[in-house]
Amino acid sequence: MKEIFARLPDALLPWYAQHRRELPWRQDREPYHVWLSEIMLQQTRVEAVKGYYTRFLEALPTIEALANADDELLHKLWEGLGYYSRVRNLKKAAQVIMARHGGQFPGEYEDVLALPGIGPYTAGAICSIAFDLPTPGVDGNVLRVVSRLTEDSTPIDQAACKKRVEQALAAVYPKAAGAFTQALMELGATVCGPNWAPDCDHCPCGSFCLGHLHGTAQNFPVKSPKKQKRE
Ligand code: ADE
Repeated sequence: MKEIFARLPDALLPWYAQHRRELPWRQDREPYHVWLSEIMLQQTRVEAVKGYYTRFLEALPTIEALANADDELLHKLWEGLGYYSRVRNLKKAAQVIMARHGGQFPGEYEDVLALPGIGPYTAGAICSIAFDLPTPGVDGNVLRVVSRLTEDSTPIDQAACKKRVEQALAAVYPKAAGAFTQALMELGATVCGPNWAPDCDHCPCGSFCLGHLHGTAQNFPVKSPKKQKRE
């Protein structure tokens, strides 16, 4: 297991540099931009987010502008993305950043995690992408990739599974933490996806992925059996 995790940085970083999609939020690492993109990308497809992201930043280019924004404008900027609590929390968090952090997005994991609307996944993603901190952002995509790499049949909806993956990844995080986080996401989105057979011929991890070497990749991830619904 450990050996497989240890091989990830050398396999993924060059692959990511060459194959990453150019996305609007990959043009810079300004923490406000990274934060906004990670919130928009929660439960929402990359293609749907692109236009919203650019429009939002044109209207509200700074955290201060967001903290002072009209609710009506915010609602318009979010209209069609769904899950409106996300934009309400964005404004609340911007106000916290103005009040407690002098308008500067905080650079420490615990402070980021304390902001409204930010859970462990999003805090890890933001801190690694914006600040190169060794904080993994482990979501369903990363859990799928890792379960195939290691043939791990622990149900991915179990909290213990996620915890284990977070710890194993944190132990091998390279200096280029932001690129590593995004490389894992990118692999899950473009090569080792959820709804189609994994494209192992084009995967940079093929030489050490147990799921590929044993032809079992498609059996992963494993989920807990659903409880039967009552009539
Ligand atoms: N999904 C979540 N965060 C993402 C990111 N930074 N790039 C692409 N897809 C993502």
